[in-house]
Amino acid sequence: MIILGIESSCDETGVALYDTDAGLLGHTVHSQVALHAEYGGVVPELASRDHIRRLLPMISALLAKHGYSVRDIGGIAYTQGPGLAGALLVGGSVASALGYALSIPVVGIHHLEAHLLSPLLSSPAPEFPFVALLVSGGHTQLMAVKAPGDYDLLGETRDDAAGEAFDKTAKLLGLPYPGGPALAELAQSGNAARFRLPRPMLDQDNLDFSFSGLKTAVANLTQQLGTQQLGTGTTECSQQDKADIAAGFQEAIVDVLTAKCVRAIDTTGMSQLVVAGGVGANRRLRIRIDAAADKAGFRVFYPPVELCTDNAAMVALAGAMRIKHGQTGALPFSARPRWDLDSLPAIA
Ligand code: KG4
Ligand code: ZN
Repeated sequence: MIILGIESSCDETGVALYDTDAGLLGHTVHSQVALHAEYGGVVPELASRDHIRRLLPMISALLAKHGYSVRDIGGIAYTQGPGLAGALLVGGSVASALGYALSIPVVGIHHLEAHLLSPLLSSPAPEFPFVALLVSGGHTQLMAVKAPGDYDLLGETRDDAAGEAFDKTAKLLGLPYPGGPALAELAQSGNAARFRLPRPMLDQDNLDFSFSGLKTAVANLTQQLGTQQLGTGTTECSQQDKADIAAGFQEAIVDVLTAKCVRAIDTTGMSQLVVAGGVGANRRLRIRIDAAADKAGFRVFYPPVELCTDNAAMVALAGAMRIKHGQTGALPFSARPRWDLDSLPAIA
């Protein structure tokens, strides 16, 4: 059976075709980064409108590319939540209308479940159970993935997501949005030891995170080091100061993420770690996690970046698993901007 996957929870429009026998046939993602760049963050209304514009043409193009028509689709999976309400409604409406017209099953998927199952699409794939670190612009969570549909939240951020902290700090340093990659690059020419930034919650005996204080520490540093720019009312520090701050900030976040991953492996007794989400592309994070894994004796999986960041392939895969077990939705559909992952039924 061919499953059409649809992702529209935030600022990426994704469509995918997944064959329950042959696996992933193909997928495409349109990123709205350029659309939101001038605002320095995602503008929900602009996101929804862009999903409306893109979704149907993207579905048509993907079907045509693989030589299929809508009549070949046997089921549809869409991201039902969590995410931006308006953006979710676009994917839900398209999925439900198409499903109704074609009389085929439609299932609403939890976005984080899709992320957690996404490593199964890459090779080598981890085996159940495994620990997953989800680190993106919207999520920072450690999960125990025990079996399909059986997830325990081990810890999460109490304020900003790791990617959000990278983006906000990058903005303070005058870097363009989304700032994570730009900050990581700047950090390469910096001295991480010059400024000792806080390691929030590192010594606490739990698996939670907090990153907003780190951003405040950077704001204070830039104020202290900066010189007043004539006529603009702003302060600006030197390029070397900025590089040193970027390196110190990156090291602080990476320290905390690495230590909590090791603790999660210890507490669960599991031997595999999956790192997913845009921040998982950070080179320093990979170096540190790999070193920690070597030392502690666990395996680390980094799925390809295109499957780590938001996409519909992971939604189609989760949908295929749920549809196979007769778990489909009913009309009228609803978007679930807030949705507890623990409330999902097992897939079996
Ligand atoms: O998973 P993702 O593509 O999308 C969503 O959050 O929806 O993650 C994007 C986040 C952004 O905050 C971006 O700044 C961050 O991942 N990011 C990075 C790097 N590449 C992307 N952060 C640190 N270092 C990187 N190399
Ligand atoms: Zn996501």
